Amino acid sequence: MQMHGKTALITGASRGIGREIALSFAKAGAARLLLVARNPQRLAETAADLESLGVEAIPLALDLSQPIEVNIAIAQAWRDYGPIDVLVNCAGVAHQASFLQLRLAQVEAEIATNLVGMYTVTRLVARRMVAQGGGTIVNVSSLMGKLAAPTMSTYSATKFAIVGFTQALRCELSPYNVRVVSLLPSLTETDMARHLQWFRWVIPVAPEQVAQALMVGLAKDTPEILVGWQSHVASWCNRLSPWLMERVLMITAPAHPRSPFSPELR
Ligand SMILES: NC(=O)c1ccc[n+]([C@@H]2O[C@H](COP(=O)([O-])OP(=O)(O)OC[C@H]3O[C@@H](n4cnc5c(N)ncnc54)[C@H](OP(=O)(O)O)[C@@H]3O)[C@@H](O)[C@H]2O)c1
Repeated sequence: MQMHGKTALITGASRGIGREIALSFAKAGAARLLLVARNPQRLAETAADLESLGVEAIPLALDLSQPIEVNIAIAQAWRDYGPIDVLVNCAGVAHQASFLQLRLAQVEAEIATNLVGMYTVTRLVARRMVAQGGGTIVNVSSLMGKLAAPTMSTYSATKFAIVGFTQALRCELSPYNVRVVSLLPSLTETDMARHLQWFRWVIPVAPEQVAQALMVGLAKDTPEILVGWQSHVASWCNRLSPWLMERVLMITAPAHPRSPFSPELR
């Protein structure tokens, strides 16, 4: 796929991986980028950086966990700045905790942003892409969408769901010339990773590497884009010997869940 002259909407574009994807699209000649995140200040900073590369950047300050607001804003954005050729669903949150200590509010936040938020935006955009005769949708999952990890139960569940959602959409929308791909980064040096306890032996990648892998994957028409050699090795080992991989995950996990009989859980 060529980005030259294209319009893209990127969620989670204010920082981290989404911001790097926006910069890569700008460098590849995109004409217009619609940037979604909650923090207007950070969005404005990213938009200014993109404008300096010669692309038109439109910040849309939106909370993806609020579907009514999102529906109205995305429909208006399509009307004012569309048609949109590429959608990148990158916004996401991660809460790391032992399942026994996880709070319902954290579970709800992960599901609302990572899944329902993605679903809301995709539904609006996909219908319009079908009407316009084509487009590309990129859903950002994670290596944890292939390998569920201790201390990340809800996050892993949302990322597995994204892989399934993407596969189903790919089949449903291909007759309409809408391509749907998943991007599966491993640990990446962003604000999200800074708030996590890392798994032992995992070497983080830079967000630029993730954006680069996406550009290569889009050019090669790869349906599931894994990032970095560690992801390929882990994914293959999991296919060959899931039992062994579970043992490895238990050894490398950062925190052993506390006993369900610890005083704060009684
Ligand atoms: N970093 C990693 O190790 C890693 C690994 C695999 C996959 N991923 C995935 O890659 C994606 C990007 O992660 P990242 O590492 O770049 O994280 P990040 O640096 O924390 O950035 C997250 C982005 O999502 C936006 N966002 C979060 N909640 C939102 C909401 N409710 N509504 C709208 N925007 C929201 C944030 O902006 P505001 O806070 O301003 O809203 C920000 O732009 C996520 O889907 C993540 O699961 C990350």
